[in-house]
Amino acid sequence: MAPMIRLAVRCRPEQAEMVLAELVELVPGGVEEERGAGYVEYAIYGPPGELPELPDLRAAAGEGLVEIETTEIPDDWADRWRDFHEPVVIAGGRLVVRPSWEEAEAGSEVDVVVDPGRAFGTGGHATTRCCLELLLALADRGLAAGPLADWGTGSGVLAIAAAKLGWDPVGGCDHEPAAVEVAAANAAANGAAVAVERLNLREQVPPAAPTVVANLTAPLLVPLAERMEAGEIAVPGRMVVSGLLLSERDRVTASFGAAGLAVEEGIESGDWAGLSMRS
Ligand SMILES: C[S@@+](CC[C@H](N)C(=O)[O-])C[C@H]1O[C@@H](n2cnc3c(N)ncnc32)[C@H](O)[C@@H]1O
Repeated sequence: MAPMIRLAVRCRPEQAEMVLAELVELVPGGVEEERGAGYVEYAIYGPPGELPELPDLRAAAGEGLVEIETTEIPDDWADRWRDFHEPVVIAGGRLVVRPSWEEAEAGSEVDVVVDPGRAFGTGGHATTRCCLELLLALADRGLAAGPLADWGTGSGVLAIAAAKLGWDPVGGCDHEPAAVEVAAANAAANGAAVAVERLNLREQVPPAAPTVVANLTAPLLVPLAERMEAGEIAVPGRMVVSGLLLSERDRVTASFGAAGLAVEEGIESGDWAGLSMRS
């Protein structure tokens, strides 16, 4: 078994959310968070050669950086990794995202199985949870029907949940080859019909659909909204977004507003916001 490395980036708490937003771009697999006195630590696990380079991590942490620590994980790393991936329970257990080694929750309406892989999205990140809650809220209003596109699909978690909630057909796209591979495999393992394609949202026109879900950062969402306003990208009937910090909410809301999308429901989780909009 290849050795496992734990790479920990410690930063000052006041800069933590910004550092996390940068790390999420760099580390699609997600990070472990630990808070201590005067610092927040984000840890990444992976075999040597599959982890981000130290200069990139330093750049991501910027002024907030306190220290970067590299530790080799002993033989029980697989268990530690598993401990980190608890099932994610949404809306009191109605929707559950779990790794395959956990039993399905009794009584859950939507059961999504996603094992930690090389793509972002085991359901545990606050922004993924925001999107899942907002998709569930649309489904409760009888709106989970017709085509849905998941922009920045990562592990495919949102696309798979959407397919199970009733949207059909469902498509996902991501610029990371690993995400495309992992999302397609996860969709198949869940018996969900999700078409996954590789596409760069900064350079190409993403697939159009009456409902779009996009868990992306504000620096990606705002240009997409501007391209909608300019008529380059079709304005969806409904759009669920997260990945934006509370401090970025007004700017993101205004840019989608200019494109003709108005916020119907907004939610918060920690420093993150989620928006459900309609045109
Ligand atoms: C925050 S993750 C969301 C993953 C998953 N949808 C979830 O909610 O857990 C953002 C995803 O967008 C993808 N992404 C980032 N920039 C992109 C770009 N320019 N074009 C396409 N996908 C991009 C990343 O690879 C990553 O998988």
